[in-house]
Amino acid sequence: MNVRPDAGTAPIPGSPHLGGGPWPGPTNTNSDQQPEPSHSGGEYRHGPSSADDDQEPGPSGGGDDRLSGVPKADHIRGPLGADRARVPELMEATRAYAVRLLAGLDDRPAARTPVRPAPESLPETGIGLEGAMEMFARRWEPGFAASAGPRYLGFVTGGATPAALAGDWLTGTLDQNPTSGLDSLAPDLERETVAWLRDLFGLPPEHEGTFVSGATMSNFAGLAIAREWLGELRGVSVAEAGAAALGPVTVLSASPHSSVVKSLSMLGLGRSAIRHVGVLPGREAVDVALLAEELDRLDGAPAIVVANAGTVNTVDFDDLRAIAALRERHPFWLHVDAAFGAFAALSPEHAHLVAGLGEADSVCADLHKWLNVPYDSAIQFTRRRDLQARVFSNSAAYLTPLSEEPDFAHLTPQNSRRLRALPAWFTLAAYGREGHAEIVRRDIALAAGLAERIASMAAYRLLAPVRLNVVCFTLASAPSPERIGEVVGAITESGEAFLTPTVHAGVPALRAAFSNWRTTETDVGRIAKILESAAPRS
Ligand SMILES: Cc1ncc(COP(=O)(O)O)c(C=O)c1O
Repeated sequence: MNVRPDAGTAPIPGSPHLGGGPWPGPTNTNSDQQPEPSHSGGEYRHGPSSADDDQEPGPSGGGDDRLSGVPKADHIRGPLGADRARVPELMEATRAYAVRLLAGLDDRPAARTPVRPAPESLPETGIGLEGAMEMFARRWEPGFAASAGPRYLGFVTGGATPAALAGDWLTGTLDQNPTSGLDSLAPDLERETVAWLRDLFGLPPEHEGTFVSGATMSNFAGLAIAREWLGELRGVSVAEAGAAALGPVTVLSASPHSSVVKSLSMLGLGRSAIRHVGVLPGREAVDVALLAEELDRLDGAPAIVVANAGTVNTVDFDDLRAIAALRERHPFWLHVDAAFGAFAALSPEHAHLVAGLGEADSVCADLHKWLNVPYDSAIQFTRRRDLQARVFSNSAAYLTPLSEEPDFAHLTPQNSRRLRALPAWFTLAAYGREGHAEIVRRDIALAAGLAERIASMAAYRLLAPVRLNVVCFTLASAPSPERIGEVVGAITESGEAFLTPTVHAGVPALRAAFSNWRTTETDVGRIAKILESAAPRS
């Protein structure tokens, strides 16, 4: 739990106005603007810890004896005290800097070949926010990629909608710890957001959700609940007795994401617990008949099945309904990794790909991908919250006990964390189901558009049909890791776009993943152009 300093009653320093070093770029002009009246009369006054932050320094820049009845004292010395006296002004300048960064996102290179600046040692006394901002702008920011921008197609990377970004700023501003319900409404906002996301993905009300840091953690939590379920069937509590008490465990999956294998290692089940099931011809989707055969071979022993709703290379989908139906004959926990595939539910023409998602016992969905909230954010759904609490419950005199509606501290590995739900809540409130469906449909259409252009280029060939938002393709002649690396390198150097290399069905290849809310047809034109010019000449 966070134990926060008594921010509301801390004395205000009388440090002189620092005068300020040069702000990066145009923020210079804004750094000494006072906040809008509507700001100082609005947001700043609402939070208990900000009641004194909206006070302007006196004529001498903080030299008044009394500010709003709070006696002046110099208990907070140095740059921190000086910054405290200028919080509204400094935040306005920071906002202006952020606005400038956003305005320049389209011109910032999509990726950078990292060149580290010369190291600097830990500042002894510190240089204050203005100094830190100047140092960041000089040493680090120029090397940051436009990963939030429209032509960053590496991995599966979302950006941040305006509302999500605003929610993120406010998350840090309010600095709530939503894992305990003792002191704030924050956990209830998280519950409302979970309910909205459940609705967005078309999951039934039996699925209860919790925010986690990303899809890896969501897969980890889902598989931890599965492990506890296996224990329940075998008459042991893994949470109490440890994973060894469970004996060997079989995890069946056709094309699991690497994070599933990593999770098995973290859970003490072992990476070798995974048994790869055959795929349909030319596909990454499981052959359900082969899965049934594997289950038959277990002879009634309970197992875990990890189904995939959206594989990374070709965005292939297992037949979730058919897999779920196998539970009539075989005991297994069905976990679905729908990290970004869950968003297919938002497009009427693609929703069939995730039909049956609600029948899963646990579901992983990432939010920093296609919901376009800033890192880090994902959600974990399960029908068995009781088992989840058995795994993750935490007991301390200062925590709430387990209840029908447990505090989030009892539901994930984390005990304290930020209110990740707030950026998601903001973007869902601001743009609704329709706004987010538009992003999903547009990205799907743009992926199809790029695939069409690539199909017409002599230098490349598609490796799979575009089922959703990823184009997987390779060189038309002699694809090798080196030649693919050269193409990726040339694209990265250009700054125009960023694509990641992969290997699909043994063939070195490239992936272009569309999941950013900003991307348009114009960007696809620019991406196609750079692909043409990055292609090897022979
Ligand atoms: C299908 C799938 N599962 C899991 C993950 C892991 O996600 P994260 O990086 O958020 O942990 C990813 C990331 O791309 C993914 O595509």
